Amino acid sequence: MGDDELVREWREAEREPGAVVLDGFHALKHAVRFGGDVRWVLTVDRGALLALAAELAGDVVPAVEGLAVEVPEAVVRGLVSRVHPTGVIGLAVRPSAEANLAALAGRPRRAPVVVLENPRNLGNVGAVIRLAAGFGATGVVTTGDLDPWHPNVLRGSAGLHFATAVERLTLPQLPAGPLYVLDPEGTDIRDLPFPDDALLAFGTERHGVSEELKARADHLVAVPMRPGVSSFNLATSVGMGLFHWMSGRKR
Ligand SMILES: C[S@@+](CC[C@H](N)C(=O)[O-])C[C@H]1O[C@@H](n2cnc3c(N)ncnc32)[C@H](O)[C@@H]1O
Repeated sequence: MGDDELVREWREAEREPGAVVLDGFHALKHAVRFGGDVRWVLTVDRGALLALAAELAGDVVPAVEGLAVEVPEAVVRGLVSRVHPTGVIGLAVRPSAEANLAALAGRPRRAPVVVLENPRNLGNVGAVIRLAAGFGATGVVTTGDLDPWHPNVLRGSAGLHFATAVERLTLPQLPAGPLYVLDPEGTDIRDLPFPDDALLAFGTERHGVSEELKARADHLVAVPMRPGVSSFNLATSVGMGLFHWMSGRKR
């Protein structure tokens, strides 16, 4: 296939519902490793890509070998705003909302669902998804208008969207489970273990938790802070919440 035809086909595939761009090797690696539906891989140097995969992630080598097509750097530059230092881009289709909703609603739930109320910062949401994937959380639900599958969020999560269920819902649509809302005004977190089926909810970066979310809470929980400090960063708070859950579990 010529480069022009390849670009045309990529553009068409990119317009398919649920298509997402994987920017760089780590996003590709995580999408493949966690069962993502990866359709395309373009690389500026196939040999270098396979060597990197062999060195860092032998488990993904067969898939990458089967998918990777070498193209001139100008082709990649025409498809993404900035060529990743690893010189690779992929195209995958995100899991369906039905599959994610089933994962979020599944019982018994063995790990919490993280809820971000109306987050504003794409990088924060990516960092939260990376944390949730690392801790083995059931999923990350966002409310509000930010798309948790936005390319910059996917960049921030290093493709770990494929390792946990990521969906946007409204507060009334939250999955069932005891709702622990993290808020600086809450009960000291050290007095309250988090159960495996908890929903751990966090407020928006600037204004914190809404009255509506507080009204739904079974518990308001605070990570104590030194006097004079008003709050922690959103993603940091999620990390502490998930660590608190993990610390209360048997190894
Ligand atoms: C940047 S903070 C919001 C700051 C906001 N001005 C406030 O007063 O809550 C974002 C979210 O992180 C969580 N958070 C930050 N610091 C916390 C703390 N000390 N204890 C519990 N949650 C905290 C809360 O969920 C909060 O809504």
